[in-house]
Amino acid sequence: MQENFELTGIRMDSDFFRFEERNEFDPELVMDVLQGRRLGVIFRDVIPEDARKESVARFWNSPGLLRRDGEPSYCIGSYHWNKSTDEYLEDSAKTADAVFDVLDVPNSPWNSFRSAMAERLAQNGADIRIAENEGDQACAALIRAWDKEGSFALDPHEDEAQCKDPRQAGFEIQRAADHEICAVNMCVEQGEGGRLVVWNIRPDDDSRRALGIEHTGFSYPADALEGFDVVHLDVRSGDVYVFNGRHVHAVDTCTGNRTNVSFLMGFIDERTVVSWT
Ligand SMILES: [Fe+2]
Repeated sequence: MQENFELTGIRMDSDFFRFEERNEFDPELVMDVLQGRRLGVIFRDVIPEDARKESVARFWNSPGLLRRDGEPSYCIGSYHWNKSTDEYLEDSAKTADAVFDVLDVPNSPWNSFRSAMAERLAQNGADIRIAENEGDQACAALIRAWDKEGSFALDPHEDEAQCKDPRQAGFEIQRAADHEICAVNMCVEQGEGGRLVVWNIRPDDDSRRALGIEHTGFSYPADALEGFDVVHLDVRSGDVYVFNGRHVHAVDTCTGNRTNVSFLMGFIDERTVVSWT
C-alpha cells in the first residue's frame, strides 16, 4: 500500500445503506438488492432445522471436503476468484457431485431460494440459472466453514473486482458488473461471533490499483476503512442473507464453526440472472 493511501469510490446514502430484516422469506426484497435499491436483507430463521442438520452432517462427512489455506476455511465447491474461466469450470465440474450432495437435502434452502426467485423473476419475464460458458456450468454453491484466527475470519474485500479478471474475458458473469453483484449466504451452522461487516464504500479502480488488487478485490487494509460507515450484522443458524457485494465486506472473527452455503448472483441482461461462486 502506498503511503498516505486514501480509499476512494462510491458511498451510498443512508436510505440505501442498511439491512432490511424479516422473519419470512420475501423475494421482493431480494429483487431490491438485485436491482440496486437497497444494500441487503436478512431473513431470520427461515431454514428448517432438519435441513440445517442434514446439510451440516453431509458437509463434514463429504469426501469432497477441502482445506483452503490461502483464506483459511474448509470448503466444498469451486470459486472463480483469481482463476481462468477454464480452470474455474473444470474445477466446478470436478466438485459438482459433492456440492449437489449437500444442496439436495430435504427442504433444501438452496432449492427453496432459487424456486422462489424463479417464480418472482418470471413476473418480469426473467429467469435465474447457473452461469455457463460454452456449455460448461459454473459451480452451484460454495459451502464453507471459516476458522481463520485474527481480527477477521474473512478479510475485508469486495466481489466486483474479481468479475473483471482478463483471464475470464467473455465469461458471462463479467456482464453482471454492469448491474449489481449480490452475495447470497445461507447459514446452516453458527458458533459465537462471525458477524457480517459491511462498509459504505464501493472502491474505484484507482484504489484497487494502488493496493495491487485490481482483479481480485482482496483484501482492503483495516486502516483504509476507518472513517466509513459500517454495518455489523449478527448472523445465526437458519438465517439467509443477501447483500450488494460491491461494498467492502468481511466476516468477524468467530469461534466454533460458521458454515454457509453461498453463491453470487446478478442480472447480466434484463431477462437473465446468473449465479456463480
Ligand atoms: Fe464476498
